[in-house]
Amino acid sequence: MRALVYNGPKDVAVVDVPDARVEAPTDAVVRITTTNICGSDLHMYEGRTDIETGRIFGHENMGVVEEVGSGVTRLKKGDRVSLPFNIACGHCRNCMRGRTAFCLETNPGTAGAAYGFADMGPYQGGQAEYLRVPFADFNALHLPQGTEHENDFTMLSDIFPTGWHGVELSGMEPGDSVVVMGAGPVGLMAALSAQVRGASVVYVVDRAPDRLALAEKMGAVAVDDSKGDPVEQIMELTDGVGTDRGVEAVGWQAHDHTGVEKPGTTIETLVQSVRATGGIGVVGVFVPEDPGAATEEAKEGRFAFPYGDFWFKGLSMATGQANVKAYNRQLRDLIITGKASPGSIVSHELGLADAVDAYKNFDERVDGWTKVLLHP
Ligand SMILES: NC(=O)c1ccc[n+]([C@@H]2O[C@H](COP(=O)([O-])OP(=O)(O)OC[C@H]3O[C@@H](n4cnc5c(N)ncnc54)[C@H](O)[C@@H]3O)[C@@H](O)[C@H]2O)c1
Ligand SMILES: [Zn+2]
Ligand SMILES: [Zn+2]
Repeated sequence: MRALVYNGPKDVAVVDVPDARVEAPTDAVVRITTTNICGSDLHMYEGRTDIETGRIFGHENMGVVEEVGSGVTRLKKGDRVSLPFNIACGHCRNCMRGRTAFCLETNPGTAGAAYGFADMGPYQGGQAEYLRVPFADFNALHLPQGTEHENDFTMLSDIFPTGWHGVELSGMEPGDSVVVMGAGPVGLMAALSAQVRGASVVYVVDRAPDRLALAEKMGAVAVDDSKGDPVEQIMELTDGVGTDRGVEAVGWQAHDHTGVEKPGTTIETLVQSVRATGGIGVVGVFVPEDPGAATEEAKEGRFAFPYGDFWFKGLSMATGQANVKAYNRQLRDLIITGKASPGSIVSHELGLADAVDAYKNFDERVDGWTKVLLHP
């Protein structure tokens, strides 16, 4: 089959690889109809992780079941499914409590596995014609047959649940005001989720004009931090009070508003912008090791944190990968009933052969490249 593989920093290629196949009785093989490129792929693409060469990228996958193992009873050939980026066993201590992003069995020695991802187990990704899906009965979400809502449903594997999770982690309640750091696909999905959940107002901070325009289209207030300190802007917009909640949707490779890479700058902004006793949800990825970082501290995943302000304001903060299965069924139904259209942020739909150029453009944040879908 054809697949996109990692050859080294900023070097990916579409090549022939052995077909994905059933390796355990609980596996299925899915023929991929849509697989998305994600901001998380860029961390690996840029050589900022220890992902090995030859791995197939792609953790945002959907498609049609092609084959099932002898132990699969719920899924059958021809079923249309969305695959959460988390690969979970369904029966470990964390899975039993719905924390499928921290499965203890699928990536032994640590918690949490994913397709085609650094430090998240040996699994191949789905930017390919076919994908092996472990514990398929547990992981796959059934979708209505056919092709309707393809570009909305493809957001169920990661970014829609992840945006939703960021809002959930912030502790948001209806009527709360929310500031989202980052207008990338995850930040935009957090903004959408906050709206669906009844936020009184959502602010989205970024400096990319095309992405800020999408945030505005979703009904959020765009805050362009290239025009000035984001904390000052949010304070001005909230009469000096700050917002009730904050969501971090940038991650450790954040750049401060002057353009200098500074891990932790978004957390600092949130601690200063969220009002006393408010909550912060962090879904942007932070890593324990970053060999490519500029300072010794950052190489070990450490950065300064305004703990005094955080404590004095009585803030709370929750973090981590999204437990996609905790939300994807309900989010699917919001799509089916027309209450949410996450596919509205799609900027490009391409074939697998175009994926190499797509990575380059997306990585360089070429204007207009917001969310790229590949249809292998
Ligand atoms: N927790 C999870 O389960 C999960 C799932 C998917 C993605 N992620 C992570 O979420 C993050 C965002 O993903 P994405 O696909 O939207 O990425 P992206 O790279 O497309 O978008 C990030 C955006 O942040 C903006 N930005 C950079 N520095 C900023 C700053 N200081 N203030 C405001 N905006 C700033 C950039 O201009 C960009 O538009 C990444 O770290 C990704 O790895 C986490
Ligand atoms: Zn993703
Ligand atoms: Zn598990």
